[in-house]
Amino acid sequence: MKRLAILISGRGSNMEVILEAKLPARVVAVISNEAGAKGLAIARAHGVPTTVIDHRGFATRSEFDAALAREIDRHRPDLVVLAGFMRVLTAECVNRYAGRMMNIHPSLLPLFGGLHTHRRALEAGVKVHGATVHFVTPDLDHGPIIIQAAVPVLPGDTEGALAERVLAQEHRIYPQAIRWFCEGRLALTAEGTVRLREPPPTGGALLSPALDM
Ligand code: GAR
Repeated sequence: MKRLAILISGRGSNMEVILEAKLPARVVAVISNEAGAKGLAIARAHGVPTTVIDHRGFATRSEFDAALAREIDRHRPDLVVLAGFMRVLTAECVNRYAGRMMNIHPSLLPLFGGLHTHRRALEAGVKVHGATVHFVTPDLDHGPIIIQAAVPVLPGDTEGALAERVLAQEHRIYPQAIRWFCEGRLALTAEGTVRLREPPPTGGALLSPALDM
């Protein structure tokens, strides 16, 4: 059984699906930088120990990251899972977990890194949007991509409707990526590329709008 540490800042819906996915893994810690994160109560209800490390209590980013790393390491995780963790980590912290830290981002990277991805996708007029799970590298929102899910952007979509459609796919791809890792099928190579053994067959193309002939 692999040991997972999950880092959150808020709602914790990705954390919740990971907790309920029956993975060959044990979630040994949930750590939040926000005391008010709703996900903390969900973690506790699943019997997972939680810790809050409020970034506001630290003078610098590196001091916060050092405290965070100490707390993570105390639980000896095989994989650190960023699930809506809304803090940029220093290169030193990220490098410490090279090949064993994953993130989920609500866009088809490398498009729309950063915040307000759904609003920006609507503004850009893209017809296909989605979510990405990637290994974390010091390059914010640009680590090696493990899996992506695409959804259509529909006429009349609001930011909320699009966010909901993407989130439903996040909940499918994040447990899948973690499962591959826990099964020993997924790794980050020394060259910085993603290696997945026995990948499932890929489906056909997604077109949006669809062809009418
Ligand atoms: C998710 O949509 C996740 O992709 C996003 O925050 C949300 C957290 O929701 N993460 C980022 O934007 C990271 N750059 P959740 O707390 O319900 O999982």
